[in-house]
Amino acid sequence: MEIQSIVENITINIDGQDIDVPKGINIIEAVKIAGKGKEVPHYCYHPKLSIAGNCRMCMVEMGMPMRDRGTGEAVLDENGVQKIGWMPKPTIACATNASPGMHIRTNSEIVKESRNGVTEFLLINHPLDCPICDQAGECRLQEFSAEHGRGYSRFIEQKNVKPKRTKLGSRVTLDDERCILCSRCVRFSKEIAGEDVLGFVDRGTYSTLTCYPGKGLEHNYSLNTVDICPVGALTSTDFRFKMLLPRPLSSPSFHDRRRRAQDRRDAACRFTSPP
Ligand code: SF4
Ligand code: FES
Repeated sequence: MEIQSIVENITINIDGQDIDVPKGINIIEAVKIAGKGKEVPHYCYHPKLSIAGNCRMCMVEMGMPMRDRGTGEAVLDENGVQKIGWMPKPTIACATNASPGMHIRTNSEIVKESRNGVTEFLLINHPLDCPICDQAGECRLQEFSAEHGRGYSRFIEQKNVKPKRTKLGSRVTLDDERCILCSRCVRFSKEIAGEDVLGFVDRGTYSTLTCYPGKGLEHNYSLNTVDICPVGALTSTDFRFKMLLPRPLSSPSFHDRRRRAQDRRDAACRFTSPP
């Protein structure tokens, strides 16, 4: 008897290449399957957490094969190939699930411009303390700023200085000015550790991460929030400023090694729900 695969595969097109991916997978994971060094940059997405869609770094262009609205017939171009109807604006890859025939562009001009704009906004109030930051060398913001940023700042207004050295609990210290409000730590505490203790207060550029009144980040998995924070905002109180990674940042192999290490940490992260 033929053993049938329990995972249904569908074909989508990523940057002109047809690939088979499991049905329902999101575009960040689909692009990883496409391989060849392709990656959709992202901060808030984590495969083990719910989708928040709040960092907006994972923008891609998305299109579907066109059909006539009246007849349902495929709309063909002059070569007899079905036309692709591209959405007028980029969409976030983490919250877009692959569907048959979907077309994705991860490197078009509009996508590059979107990432560039998101990076510029994220850096508006971010301190330039990479030389002393514990996360330097394995910081997603540092890496993606180098790869997708403008390379210079156009911000001439007064920077908004947020709180430093905020103790969230006995083991974790927050440098709020480094936080990019991705909410990974919030969702981790609520969904994995089972303790809903973190949240954001205030709005816009004044938004800050904090514990709910009367609560602290004290659960047994609190140090894992330091691991999944993509930047250096959450630090281990015992470890902070004790040791820095070596950082020959110009070396691509160093970048690759660091990124693989971060991927491994993201994937593993001792994500077993507490009893
Ligand atoms: S502290 Fe880190 S994980 Fe938490 S919201 Fe800020 S950037 Fe994200
Ligand atoms: S990873 Fe998609 S919006 Fe953050």
